Amino acid sequence: MTPEGAARAPLAAFPQLRMRRLRRTPWLRRLVAEHRLDPSDLIQPVFVCEGTRRREPVPSMPGIERLSVDLLPAFAERCAELGIPALALFPATPPEKKSEGAEEAWNPDNLVCRAIRAIKRSVPEIGLIGDVALDPYTTHGQDGLVREGVVLNDETLEALQKQAVTLADAGCDVVAPSDMMDGRVRAVREALDAAGHRDTVILSYAAKYASAFYGPFRDAVGSKSALGRADKKTYQMDPANVAEALREVALDVAESADMVMVKPGLPYLDVLRAVKEAFGLPTLVYQVSGEYAMIRAAGERGWLDAAACMEECLIAFKRAGADAILTYAAVEAAERLRRRAAGGA
Ligand code: PBG
Repeated sequence: MTPEGAARAPLAAFPQLRMRRLRRTPWLRRLVAEHRLDPSDLIQPVFVCEGTRRREPVPSMPGIERLSVDLLPAFAERCAELGIPALALFPATPPEKKSEGAEEAWNPDNLVCRAIRAIKRSVPEIGLIGDVALDPYTTHGQDGLVREGVVLNDETLEALQKQAVTLADAGCDVVAPSDMMDGRVRAVREALDAAGHRDTVILSYAAKYASAFYGPFRDAVGSKSALGRADKKTYQMDPANVAEALREVALDVAESADMVMVKPGLPYLDVLRAVKEAFGLPTLVYQVSGEYAMIRAAGERGWLDAAACMEECLIAFKRAGADAILTYAAVEAAERLRRRAAGGA
């Protein structure tokens, strides 16, 4: 029922009507729950580093480690076994491989391509999502190519096309343009099709805001020091805008995006709801690094119950219309759901 319908419906009133009746026991609450979280709603982002048998904790993201390529198959296996449908891979590119022109982005042996091949070889059933944006590879940390301080749009598109084809060649199932250049979805689709990758899915970061909540991610992939005091406000969206988000999504849909994403998550639930209602296509949300870090940090201080807060946020995304959620807490949430299904807490 729509919220408006619910408001019209009550014919009875207190004391005959008691809303608390249906909240009295766990089984009743379960029975009347309007939304449910399932492992198949969750996508786990993974940071990949060079080396072997390397796990590097990310200090600003408690519980998250960068993993070297050899450790990825076991991690992917665990995710698949928990029912998590896909991983989103992010390379922590060594500084010596970064350049002004981001050439490493289309090196078929770059870190993310090696990660994709390693996982696909041993866990072919898990979906792999690769970010299409130049920031892991640029010395300046911007998502596009830069000339005289300006992030270039059309020149960047050519680089993104090469990057997307390289990812698809390596076996990436979904390419996710996260750069917010204009025209990138069409450009990437054309390049993929021309290279014979007609079934490679495009997940567009369609409404991506210039957010301070990406801070810990930039620590994790090592783009923060490169970016310095610069920001991404000439291409990522102004947090004040929602009509503009709908225009962005409309354009990406017209350019043949298969799925769209709203990012960050919790501060933008209204945008998520608006996008889902206006277009009805698969709409994902990204609970970004800063959202994760806030909850975990407060949990570590004993100020919040981190697991309960995390779960509350994840169900909020479902309530607002998300079809799936990228969250650093995917594995822990899936484990919790499994314990609950088995009758535990
Ligand atoms: C890169 C990219 C970013 C995130 C995903 N892809 C950072 C940025 O745009 O600066 C952020 C994810 C997060 O904060 O968890 N284009």
